Amino acid sequence: MAKFEIIVGSVLGASEYVADALQEVLLKNTHSAEIHLTPKLADLDHNTNWIICTSTHGAGDLPDNIQPFAEQLKNQNLSKHTFLVIGLGDSSYDTYCHGSIQLENIMLSGGATLLHPALHIDVLNHPIPEDAAVAWLNNWLKNNEQ
Ligand SMILES: Cc1cc2nc3c(=O)[nH]c(=O)nc-3n(C[C@H](O)[C@H](O)[C@H](O)COP(=O)(O)O)c2cc1C
Repeated sequence: MAKFEIIVGSVLGASEYVADALQEVLLKNTHSAEIHLTPKLADLDHNTNWIICTSTHGAGDLPDNIQPFAEQLKNQNLSKHTFLVIGLGDSSYDTYCHGSIQLENIMLSGGATLLHPALHIDVLNHPIPEDAAVAWLNNWLKNNEQ
């Protein structure tokens, strides 16, 4: 059994639905998973896998609820951290999924280990983004026997 922290960035709620679906998958697989809708560094368990699940808004920006967390992460030593990234975006923007890419880069700059290349869900092709996220996570769990 492993423990996961699901860190959500959302404006309109789609990433929250994805986070709920991810949590369901993890719990079904006897893992524990907590969702953070107002993520703060101090509230997170630092010995778990983090799953960053965020959309992009504005001109490639992170949603407001996760921006303070992104700021907190800057200049942290994250070398003991492992994480996954699921970005929601719309490929008609030339800043497609830039919010999640931004956060991924902050984590990597701090020395964290990305456990698998990020999943970018294009909401133009995936009207139900949680389906793509669930398939991806199930596949990752199967291959990693967490
Ligand atoms: C005002 C606005 C700006 C957006 N800007 C971007 C963007 O720059 N890049 C991108 O990939 N998607 C962009 N999107 C698409 C959203 O990321 C996408 O609709 C996503 O599913 C929203 O998820 P949320 O409900 O969790 O916020 C934008 C959507 C809106 C409404």
